[in-house]
Amino acid sequence: MRTIIEPFRIKSVDPIVMTTREERERHLREADYNLFKIPARAVMIDLLTDSGTGAMSAEQWAAIMRGDESYAGSPSFFVLKEAVKRRFGFDEFMPVHQGRAAERILFHLLGGPGKVILGNTHFDTTRANIEMSGAEAVDIPVASALDPSRDEPFKGNIDIEKLKLTIRARGAVNISALIMTITNNAVGGQPVSLANLRAAREICHANGIPLFLDAARFAENAYLAKLRDPELSSLTIAEIVLKYFEPCDGFLLSAKKDALCHVGGLLGIRDPELAARARTMLVVTEGFPTYGGLAGRDLEAMARGLEEAIDFTYLAYRAAVTSYISHGLITLGVPHVRPPGLHAIYIDAGKFLPHIPPGEFPGHALAVELYRIAGVRGCEIGSLMRGDNCTLQLLRLAIPRRGYTQSHMDYLLEAFEDIVKKRGDIRGYRIVDEPPALRHFTARIAPIGNLSVARPPVTQVSH
Ligand SMILES: Cc1ncc(COP(=O)(O)O)c(C=O)c1O
Repeated sequence: MRTIIEPFRIKSVDPIVMTTREERERHLREADYNLFKIPARAVMIDLLTDSGTGAMSAEQWAAIMRGDESYAGSPSFFVLKEAVKRRFGFDEFMPVHQGRAAERILFHLLGGPGKVILGNTHFDTTRANIEMSGAEAVDIPVASALDPSRDEPFKGNIDIEKLKLTIRARGAVNISALIMTITNNAVGGQPVSLANLRAAREICHANGIPLFLDAARFAENAYLAKLRDPELSSLTIAEIVLKYFEPCDGFLLSAKKDALCHVGGLLGIRDPELAARARTMLVVTEGFPTYGGLAGRDLEAMARGLEEAIDFTYLAYRAAVTSYISHGLITLGVPHVRPPGLHAIYIDAGKFLPHIPPGEFPGHALAVELYRIAGVRGCEIGSLMRGDNCTLQLLRLAIPRRGYTQSHMDYLLEAFEDIVKKRGDIRGYRIVDEPPALRHFTARIAPIGNLSVARPPVTQVSH
């Protein structure tokens, strides 16, 4: 199908401010070439993140009006409790203000110097919270995750053989958890198979290591699993979601993604003793256990969002958007992570701009160019975000949920038509100064003036 029928009508609009190229040049200079520092009003299409940027439904806004703001025992908490039980099979959970609050609580308890936390690939805030506790974060992705052009169904998986070897090498007593992130955001929003999750669970349990899900995109993972795993094809999304949560000792969830909220998160822990310690921290740093870091209305919006997230028509529409962009990029010869996930397109900037070495941030260079040409904001996921040892240099174009239409995506593809023509002129960047953690959010960055190294000619990139 050429035309995507967005499965919603627009009832309330948020105007886009049209900017000129000159205005955008000025914004870039004033923001020290850091796109996080550009005012959102100066962005025409904001694909920086899919986190908290979606449109809530009429039913969610109605639920917000039902929100009860009692400090303790709010009925809104019990509405959410029922939804969490129904969708994830967990009796107990803690609301938190967003995903990283759950990370801070969990890794404060499980981390610390000498401890190791394994993962299929830790998201940047997860890694930062692990490292801030003094523990070490170790990623064990499958090899295909590091090859954007390889078209495999479950590139979000953990490498099971390497998992066994790592446990043996580090010693099971030093490993305090395995975090399986579904979908695996850091490698391109790729899904994890149920077989892989279960195999990881077997190994963890044999070694006394708890297994946690980072379930921010639980519904998108379930949708892709239904399409790609013949054993799951006859199940509903709701049934598949339950199967993923069943083997886990706990979960962390940023409700700003699949739960279709603007704020919020959840922490679920099955072990009552660990849960009690987490609840103590929750009370100290987030809030009373029946609201965590949220207002009662946020709990209601989340309960409703958990229901809407598993709607097959909605998920199929999400998939149609990213495959539409992917096809357009293939036609233009722009390499990107294949097959595309649902929440974002990841351009392989390292391959698209081979004249810019990783240390000069090709993903960031492409992000700046896209903003300059078209006012579209994306996010580098490469050496700037993940440090010098990062193998993939990506530009992520995240798709806010229910926020943009097909014509916005056509405009994006037109911008790439322009970029393809002039990509040989795009220059690298250097960091002027940076904070000690999560540098990409606030670093001051500058274009590299003179071409410092001899650059190979740019050749046509094929997939
Ligand atoms: C996989 C994953 N885990 C955790 C987080 C952190 O969640 P939050 O932004 O709500 O703190 C994110 C946010 O993008 C994420 O994608």
